[in-house]
Amino acid sequence: MAYRDLRAYLTALEERGKLKRISKEVDKDWEVAAVCRQTFYKIPPQRRPALMFDNVKGFDTPICAGVLGASRDIYAIGLETDGVEGINRKWDAALEKPIPPVMMKTGPCKENILHGNQVDIGKLPVPVWTVGEDPGPFFTSPYVVTKDPETGIRNVGTYRMQVKGPNKTGFLFGKRQDASWHLRKHNELNQPMPVAVVIGADPSIGYVSVSKMSEELDEYAVAGALRGAPVELVPCETVPLEVPATAEIVLEGEIPANFTEMEGPFGEYTGYMGPAGKGPVFNIKCMTFRNNPVYQAFISQRPPSESSCIRGVGREWPLFKHLKYNLRLPIKDLRMKEAGGSGAYVVVSLKKQFNGQVKQLMYGIWSLRTGFGKITVVVDEDIDVWDDFDVDWALSWHVRPDKDVYIERDTQSVGLDPSQAPKQVPQHDPIRDVGARLAIDATRKHDYPAIALPPKDHLDRVAARWKDYGIDS
Ligand SMILES: Cc1cc2nc3c(=O)[nH]c(=O)nc-3n(C[C@H](O)[C@H](O)[C@H](O)COP(=O)(O)O)c2cc1C
Repeated sequence: MAYRDLRAYLTALEERGKLKRISKEVDKDWEVAAVCRQTFYKIPPQRRPALMFDNVKGFDTPICAGVLGASRDIYAIGLETDGVEGINRKWDAALEKPIPPVMMKTGPCKENILHGNQVDIGKLPVPVWTVGEDPGPFFTSPYVVTKDPETGIRNVGTYRMQVKGPNKTGFLFGKRQDASWHLRKHNELNQPMPVAVVIGADPSIGYVSVSKMSEELDEYAVAGALRGAPVELVPCETVPLEVPATAEIVLEGEIPANFTEMEGPFGEYTGYMGPAGKGPVFNIKCMTFRNNPVYQAFISQRPPSESSCIRGVGREWPLFKHLKYNLRLPIKDLRMKEAGGSGAYVVVSLKKQFNGQVKQLMYGIWSLRTGFGKITVVVDEDIDVWDDFDVDWALSWHVRPDKDVYIERDTQSVGLDPSQAPKQVPQHDPIRDVGARLAIDATRKHDYPAIALPPKDHLDRVAARWKDYGIDS
């Protein structure tokens, strides 16, 4: 049955041993980030829990983190399924048959309503993530609701928000994000853009918020299909937008047209500081919240992180399907390596039909409106893309650097890629927009000698009677 809200989901995680409550007092301004980081360092994904900081120094509101993607297992629980295959099936069905949301008159998110100067986001336990480098606290898991002023189609997206005052934040909208298009259209009309920010909701809202999908789709409808029941929405108090009725916290307000100010820097998913740059500001007019709200944060910064987990799961399957079924390329498997923030570094195995097909594959990836595959490695189908040793072996012995390395210049880049420009160059500088791509064809291009290993049936026979050898008992 669909999780009603974030709370129901946290209970489900806890019952399955996937949520750890921390009752020790923690300081949101340095300790939360360090505890999250050590959790990623010390606990392998199979055992890694999401975290609930119940006792945040100076605040009554608890912080949960890692609840959508401390691991792929947790992502699967969020979608009430098992394993990556289950996740992919859920996404396929949801995109094929979205379930439109339903409007309610009111809901728990209206239990408390503050207007104007009553709003003080300083009362929320928003953590500082890269202490000593970030200029202050940042919201990392806002679900930002906006509408296209021409079509009225709604969007939900996650974009970092810098706390700039009691009722003011900055935003970073990547240039190709839906909210960025919406803002451009409002700027052309010289009208402020209404915005609602949801913090903490049932997991389906979070998964659609961080995933790219067609601009024509209502992301609440996709969320409804992911959870198997329509999302219940309520109208905002002060802006013509709708938010989930069971949201923990909602911030309502607007972005003034044609106005920017400096935002950032912020420790980013690349593992480096993303530079400061000119960005929009969000003036908050109203805040609504449930009694005893829970504050939710995403763990990001240097991968591996919750951010790289969520990105990888949400991107690998759509890209795989595009290459295999739209472009009809005989690929076997595809991995977005987390070290590359699950985007920059892609490894694909291919049942190559002819030499030259690798080029079709790399252009298939590069032709998308994304920065995917700045480094693209293509291997034969017998190489396991999930086994780094296997991939390194193919790179070492299947590649002639003078023939098998391709560089495509002047392609779309990722603005946060620190290799684009020195750190002093601001985020909005166009030099960050255009970069290059590299592909390495690590498939075998001619007849290779036999692989130097014992025959498979010998290995199987030894494996079957492994105990008899007394080596590993
Ligand atoms: C933890 C996390 C933080 C993110 N922060 C930003 C951000 O600050 N700016 C941005 O443009 N995209 C950010 N993204 C990526 C967007 O959420 C993602 O591209 C999403 O698809 C955007 O929504 P849209 O496709 O509806 O525009 C972030 C993703 C995650 C997982």
